[in-house]
Amino acid sequence: IAAQAADDIARITGVEHHDIALTLGSGWAGAAELIGEPTATFPATDVTGFGKPALEGHVGTLRSILTPRGKRVLVIGARTHFYEGHGVRRVVHSVRTAAATGARTMVLTNGAGGIKRTWKPGIPVLISDHINLTAATPLEGATFIDLTDLYSLRLRDLARSIDPSLDEGVYCQFTGPQYETPAEVQMAKTIGGHMVGMSTALEAIAARQSKMEILGFTLVTNMAAGIQTTPLSHEEVMEAGRQAGPVISSLLARVIGAL
Ligand code: 6GU
Repeated sequence: IAAQAADDIARITGVEHHDIALTLGSGWAGAAELIGEPTATFPATDVTGFGKPALEGHVGTLRSILTPRGKRVLVIGARTHFYEGHGVRRVVHSVRTAAATGARTMVLTNGAGGIKRTWKPGIPVLISDHINLTAATPLEGATFIDLTDLYSLRLRDLARSIDPSLDEGVYCQFTGPQYETPAEVQMAKTIGGHMVGMSTALEAIAARQSKMEILGFTLVTNMAAGIQTTPLSHEEVMEAGRQAGPVISSLLARVIGAL
């Protein structure tokens, strides 16, 4: 099914091979315009296995972009979240499709709650590792894959060469769609987490299975429950994305340009 989707993309875009894939999470959408020349923009629903986008702020658009240095970037603005209930296979379909288009590098971005008190809403953070708290996996059967250096140190160093001030942390994927309780956030902190979100970890596992090199970015859209004392809201998350959008998009575009 991923091979079929990759064929669809090759037919629609006229591009046989992509080098890099980029999934745009909350707040990161502006990067698409800054990466290079879009050679094709089309609804994800034109591609096999991509369902309708569920959520405001998650644009269901795919793009093929040519960077100034001649790299082909498949931009995926159509993430399926685990909480939508379509199963893990649908969640990772875009990653497997990206791999089938030839992409060897998978850049995953998201918006998440921050656990470190020094992280104010609007800051971008590199993902150094993850904790998968979904009790799910994209792997089927006895697929014993190694997840050492899942979020490539080489690519994190490259990102830090663009912005030396970038901090990094461990991303905890919860199922959502409810935000965590303060006790769950304390648990995440105790077990070594720094960000809490509802995506990315399952996708990173699938990307590793497909032998891609992975780079992950989180936009801290808010402090996690109990870290901030005010209630969390989807509007707050979206507003942080709007505010930080231009700055983090420019950072992301420069990093992609250096890949
Ligand atoms: Cl606090 N939690 C989760 N799971 N996802 C988020 C978030 C928090 N803030 C933005 N996205």
